[in-house]
Amino acid sequence: MPKTARIAVLVSGGGSNLQTILDAQKAGGLAGAEVVLVLSSKSDAYALTRAKDSGIRTTVVERKAFSSDEAFNAATLAPLIEAEADILCLAGYLRKLGPGIIQRYRGRILNIHPALLPKFGGPGMYGHYVHEAVLKSGDKESGCTVHVVDEEFDHGPVLAQAKVPVQPGDTPETLAARVLEQEHQLYPKTIREFCEKYMKSGAPS
Ligand code: GRF
Repeated sequence: MPKTARIAVLVSGGGSNLQTILDAQKAGGLAGAEVVLVLSSKSDAYALTRAKDSGIRTTVVERKAFSSDEAFNAATLAPLIEAEADILCLAGYLRKLGPGIIQRYRGRILNIHPALLPKFGGPGMYGHYVHEAVLKSGDKESGCTVHVVDEEFDHGPVLAQAKVPVQPGDTPETLAARVLEQEHQLYPKTIREFCEKYMKSGAPS
């Protein structure tokens, strides 16, 4: 039975979700789970600064540094193994994970998506594109989803969702901000619950 859950957070951008995970850890709110590595697919991601400010190890693995997807995927997997990560949390990570990573961590990779999956997910559905699509659809509510990652974009089993209303006059920016507030509540809470299960049973839920 694992005594701790070692988390690697994968990022590509601003890292506000990463920050809420780190804040939860500092406040003792991760149930003994620990962020051991922040891996970024972009060298200029502000998330790296957030990690360094919290004393968390960082590594950058950019696709452009490799001549093939296979080499990039192997270079992404290596630091995760080296850090002895048990659980991967994608927090605004914009690359598709390679099959080797998904196989090795199957059932132990979480992602947060800024819409109510299965709606508004899949290739190309990220950032403002998601919120634009929600507004265009005329849906009266949106929200965020934490799910287990599988081979398909935004596809694996849903662990938790939070809803927000779509308001008259919303722009992609105002809707994104309302959803992001919920993401910051939902992701650390869901990670905590997931890690508690992992530490009890060791099995992917
Ligand atoms: C969030 O909206 C998240 O749902 C999506 O990417 C965004 C990342 O934002 N997967 P941040 O980098 O955590 O601020």
